[in-house]
Amino acid sequence: FNVPTPVNEPVLQYAPGSKERALLTDALAQARATETTIPMYIGAAEVTTDKKVSMHPPHDHKHCLGYYYQGNKQHVQQAIDAALTAKESWENLAWEQRAAIFLKAADLIAGKYRYQLNAATMLCQSKNAYQAEIDAACELIDFLRFNVKYMSEIYSQQPPVSGPGTWNRVEQRPLEGFVFALTPFNFTAIAGNLPACVAMMGNVVVWKPANTQIYSAALIMKILKEAGLPDGVINLVYVSGTDAGDVIFQHPDFAGIHFTGSTGVFQNIWQTIGNNISKYKTYPRIVGETGGKDFILVHPSADIKLTNTAFVRGAFEYQGQKCSAASRGYVPASLWPALKELLVADLASLKMGGVEEYGNFINAVIDEKSFDKIASYINNAKNDAQAEIIAGGNYSKEKGYFIEPTVIVTTNPNYTTMCEEIFGPVLTLYIYNDEEFDHILKVVDSTSGYALTGAFIAQDRYAIDKASHALRNAAGNFYINDKPTGAVVGQQPFGGARASGTNDKAGSMINLLRWVSPRTIKETF
Ligand code: NAD
Ligand code: ALA
Repeated sequence: FNVPTPVNEPVLQYAPGSKERALLTDALAQARATETTIPMYIGAAEVTTDKKVSMHPPHDHKHCLGYYYQGNKQHVQQAIDAALTAKESWENLAWEQRAAIFLKAADLIAGKYRYQLNAATMLCQSKNAYQAEIDAACELIDFLRFNVKYMSEIYSQQPPVSGPGTWNRVEQRPLEGFVFALTPFNFTAIAGNLPACVAMMGNVVVWKPANTQIYSAALIMKILKEAGLPDGVINLVYVSGTDAGDVIFQHPDFAGIHFTGSTGVFQNIWQTIGNNISKYKTYPRIVGETGGKDFILVHPSADIKLTNTAFVRGAFEYQGQKCSAASRGYVPASLWPALKELLVADLASLKMGGVEEYGNFINAVIDEKSFDKIASYINNAKNDAQAEIIAGGNYSKEKGYFIEPTVIVTTNPNYTTMCEEIFGPVLTLYIYNDEEFDHILKVVDSTSGYALTGAFIAQDRYAIDKASHALRNAAGNFYINDKPTGAVVGQQPFGGARASGTNDKAGSMINLLRWVSPRTIKETF
């Protein structure tokens, strides 16, 4: 079995008149016209319940896309049972056979299901065509293919040294029990990758997606099954976080959690696991990618056009609802007047609207809760002497949850919106005196407890080396002369430290190694 050397999936451009645009437009129209009803997937069963919950596109929230069946604690228990039943035969399959299933799933996404999965991601997770293509198609395909490659490397590692009369070896066993995959609303690729990479290593999984992600999660599940994933290896349930947690974190066979979501939820989960630690057969693996307060630091030697692009794309693509999105910036006073002019003009020219209309840069934020939270930060800034809104600041939730790209300039480097994760299209800037560069490095490092992504823009080589070292703990992914977003699988392994996660780098061997428990064997003869 030869594992193909992965190449990043080419990103389709959806140019006007192109075949891919016509196919995606059809998929969108079909999704809109069909009121689908989505079951849970537990073992071999497609499970329905007596509670149906409607799904609505964030940009057009009066339209009903269909329903999913809401489960409860019993369904979580059934999912655990189905996982444990599937465990033995799954972990006894040769890794090459497991690998073939995930490679087949990648091919299905790249071909047969590409437009359907992109349409689901656009309609439910509020991404435009290009963003959905990068997330639901390319990044998910890349995760599957690159992880299969890393997996093959793990299973082909050189054995330890053996002496005369001894044969030493290390066996990579799956974890003893089941793993819980808990995924956030904002990435279809993360949704697919979290359960898939755990299962790839021979584990069985209970998967709970965010509610707004269920539409695309169910399609991924269907694809995995079509690719040959045996029943029960991954079980997909739609339950509240509390229902899931109440059953899973009490279970003796709970062996680990693969989480992506907010810092607060992860910290609560960690605490619950700690409180229950004596109940488990094994210490659970806890892997979490969490929130961010990502920065762009601009040096006086920076190129202004590049800086402007880094802010516009880094802060406002995906409505800033990307864990890596820039949300605080530090600009030297000498560059500010020219940068301000460019930034304000560019933001005013961005098109905002629904995802089905090609060319809209800004789409709706994910839901009403998120909209209200972001709007309250904007309102507070409007009424605070330390803050001035220089772009955007308007919002409306009449048809969809739309918020203008908003820039706040503050005189206080510790202002609320410089410190807290807002998770929306709001960028806060602090203008520093050029002579204070050394001081500002310390401010950037210490202002938020997060350390996910950060960018430094400069042409001065000495300053680049200095900032790179001074900010070595401030970001798990550090970008020089680029925006702090858009990590590509296989090129920039992704993840943060401090309050941003356990830094187990999604799409890397480091991550896959968390899902095996090595056994060392010494045989003498
Ligand atoms: P969230 O924390 O609200 O939800 C994440 C998942 O946990 C969802 O499935 C949710 O239903 C579930 N959940 C919520 N409360 C729970 C509870 N008490 N018990 C068990 N499960 C619970 O996050 P979100 O709003 O879906 O996603 C946005 C967040 O995710 C942001 O903070 C963002 O920075 C972060 N994120 C981080 C990364 C990364 O790689 N670091 C990537 C994407 C998103
Ligand atoms: N991996 C995504 C990015 O880098 C979140 O932007």
